[in-house]
Amino acid sequence: MLKVEKLSKSFGSKKVLDQISFEVSKGDIAIITGPSGVGKTTLIRCLSSLETYDSGSIEITERSTDEHPVGLVFQNFNLYPHLSAMGNITFPLMKVKGMSKSEAETKAKEILDSLGLSGLEKSYPYQLSGGQQQRVAIARALAMDPEYLCFDEPTSALDSKLRDSVGQILVDIAKKDTGVIVITHDREFAEKYSTKLYELGSDLVRIN
Ligand SMILES: Nc1ncnc2c1ncn2[C@@H]1O[C@H](COP(=O)(O)OP(=O)(O)OP(=O)(O)O)[C@@H](O)[C@H]1O
Ligand SMILES: [Mg+2]
Repeated sequence: MLKVEKLSKSFGSKKVLDQISFEVSKGDIAIITGPSGVGKTTLIRCLSSLETYDSGSIEITERSTDEHPVGLVFQNFNLYPHLSAMGNITFPLMKVKGMSKSEAETKAKEILDSLGLSGLEKSYPYQLSGGQQQRVAIARALAMDPEYLCFDEPTSALDSKLRDSVGQILVDIAKKDTGVIVITHDREFAEKYSTKLYELGSDLVRIN
């Protein structure tokens, strides 16, 4: 379980997160909505260790030995522009996980195939559609075998058909016993795919 207790974070004198508490289990799809600027991105950056916090705790119970238990798929994907789809996935596997190139390529190929990206291994990000780039970013995060995976606004740039294909990817990831945490402004999507739905305002409130 990913357990967040009384998490607080300020930037200078501006308090962004004020004693936020919630829990996500593996298999959950926890979706967080809330107005712009309220601290949603900051919250998942804290969860994935990209941002420090001032007080409170983020605890992962029953974790395996994984050093990177919480992954993040960025809103703008953050793909390496000079690497192919395959390279975007194998690079962190080799650098962070210490895999050999062939091990990393085998793993990357499997995940790319599972996300419907077969044949696009050699394409560079600029040669891919937005939806394809997003799936490469998801593949890159999944390749690290996270126990929990956060998504920042995964549907913001997508039409309704692609939105549902992202929803199905979230369902598939959760089924494989990964905890999924999603930020979205899309209330319809949130209600359709969440197992737990929260609204972040001055407090984090569970609404479903
Ligand atoms: N690195 C930073 N330095 C200073 N202020 C920051 C930093 N990152 C975020 N903030 C501020 O913290 C607040 C929350 O930002 P955050 O990006 O978490 O909001 P958000 O809820 O994700 O908004 P949106 O829905 O527009 O993406 C904003 O006022 C923002 O300006
Ligand atoms: Mg944001």
